[in-house]
Amino acid sequence: MCGIVGAWMTRAGMDDIADVLVEGLRTLEYRGYDSSGVGVVRSDPGAAPGAVRVARKMGRLENLEEALKGGALAGANVGVGHTRWATHGEPSDENAHPHTDGTEQIALVHNGIIENYLELRAELEAAGVVFQSETDTEVLTHLVGRRYATDGDLAGSLRAALRQVKGYYAVAVVGNRDGVTELVCARQGPPLCVAMFEDGVMLASDVLAVLPHTREVTYLSDGDLAVLSPGSVRVERIDGEAGEAVERVATLVDWDTEAANKGGYPHFMLKEIFEQSEVLGRAIHNRLLPTQGDVQFEGDGWSDPDLNGIGRVQILACGTALHAGIVARYLIEGLARIPVEVDFASEYRYCEPVVSPGTLAIAISQSGETADTLAAMRLARELGAQTLAICNVQGSTLTRDCQKTILTHAGPEIGVASTKAFTAQLIAAYLFALRLGRARRVLDEATGARMIEELRHLRPKLESLLTTEFSDSIRKIAERHVNQNGFLFLGRGVNYPIALEGALKLKEISYVHAEGYAAGEMKHGPIALIDPGLTTLVINTKGRVADKVRSGIEQVRARKGPVIVLGSDEGSWSLGDDVVKIPETSEWLSPLLHVVPLQLFAYHVADLKGCDIDKPRNLAKSVTVE
Ligand code: AGP
Repeated sequence: MCGIVGAWMTRAGMDDIADVLVEGLRTLEYRGYDSSGVGVVRSDPGAAPGAVRVARKMGRLENLEEALKGGALAGANVGVGHTRWATHGEPSDENAHPHTDGTEQIALVHNGIIENYLELRAELEAAGVVFQSETDTEVLTHLVGRRYATDGDLAGSLRAALRQVKGYYAVAVVGNRDGVTELVCARQGPPLCVAMFEDGVMLASDVLAVLPHTREVTYLSDGDLAVLSPGSVRVERIDGEAGEAVERVATLVDWDTEAANKGGYPHFMLKEIFEQSEVLGRAIHNRLLPTQGDVQFEGDGWSDPDLNGIGRVQILACGTALHAGIVARYLIEGLARIPVEVDFASEYRYCEPVVSPGTLAIAISQSGETADTLAAMRLARELGAQTLAICNVQGSTLTRDCQKTILTHAGPEIGVASTKAFTAQLIAAYLFALRLGRARRVLDEATGARMIEELRHLRPKLESLLTTEFSDSIRKIAERHVNQNGFLFLGRGVNYPIALEGALKLKEISYVHAEGYAAGEMKHGPIALIDPGLTTLVINTKGRVADKVRSGIEQVRARKGPVIVLGSDEGSWSLGDDVVKIPETSEWLSPLLHVVPLQLFAYHVADLKGCDIDKPRNLAKSVTVE
């Protein structure tokens, strides 16, 4: 939810760690952007040497940068930083992190939730502690600070405090006492990685913050506590003994720093939409076996007998990833003839799910750290399911908790509205369904080969939609509909979830009401909404249900509802007030083409309305709390 960073640099001439922290926070801003702050250990004229100083500002990171101008916290080479997505207490300077215990000895940043904070706060207040904020985090700060003030061991103080709290956290603390500086962090739930390089050490919620310094990072496991100092990172356990190190293997990250830049585009979302043909290339690279009409996945894949043992699939995901899951359901049922259920991860957890022998639970997630998805997948595993992650982040909690992983290879996705990660999830689902179908002999070699051929021919078709001309044509349509009261998105079969996704994209970034519906359901209720103020976007591709969808379009037109028609069904083109012609491909692959104009439509409507596209209100990229 929030982003945390910490650094201790030994580079010659380094005297303003706040610059490094802010640079890290910029890459983490997608995780929360209602306030930010940094805390450093510095020698301040008039302050005791080694005093911990903080700067915190409500609003975007620029506000913090403004406050730091002129080297307000210069004279420091170690500190922590935070970018917040408020959970406890409104966005304000006081509630922004880092928090201190009022002694100038520690600064603490936290991502997650301390569930028993009210109880702990009451105990601390009874002991005379005066709180400065409404956050749950400040409770943790005082617990650490009180202990540190007496025994001067920051790692020990954090360990003792964490043993008192219930909840989820990634936490980092910088402290200085009697001239000795310490930097420690711990993780239980939200992600945290640590890295050591030539001229420093770092910790961060996401490798993106570390990439400018090194590509070699170590992901902490739940229950880990790390002690960082120049030239050393020691990982221990929160429930272990002080000094008892545990081994954690470093990972080489294959992302580059460019991925975290806009690359000349006005927004990350637009850049990421335009990256989708490269994503397709990466997602199929080394995975296609055209002569065998089959596909392969890197690593330790399932054998054919394993795949034949799967009798049922449960797909667990949230938001956009859930929509990819619904597409996957059509694919797996259609191509491998295995029954599939798709559940909101947040519902699965509380609906007494039935997991029969031979169930495969597939958790789909861009980040691999969505709390509901992780909890649902863990429950499925406890109930006896085998687990597969379809995930974009190598080393994320989901990939480490599942038995198998298919990486989606979309590259870092910064825009809060997911685009290229969705496309990559659809490709992974297509490949996995094909593999399952082949292993179970539902698909023969020739069919498999044809499907691979269609996939290879998809790239130029996708590229034809990823041009400035095409984007401009969608903008023109957006201009004609931008002031509508609402939008209804209709699709059928494998394109029904694309209607859901189109509606989600639009409402997320333009704050306009939009609903996605199965086209055949329109007449059972939503038709009552049709009037000139509601635009209906209808996806209609050549195929089994094209004529049925066409009659749905007629029903909207008969009620004077404006219609945007989108797809390869030529018979529908004359029925729309606006038409987006999409190249023909197989029905199974058509979602990959249809989603592009819908992403662009949402983007242009939001842009025309002047919305903050990459940082829509109230949202965060990864929802790491329930
Ligand atoms: C997508 O645009 C959303 N921001 C959101 O629905 C997202 O897809 C959802 O929170 C799941 O995230 P995940 O893929 O990282 O698990």
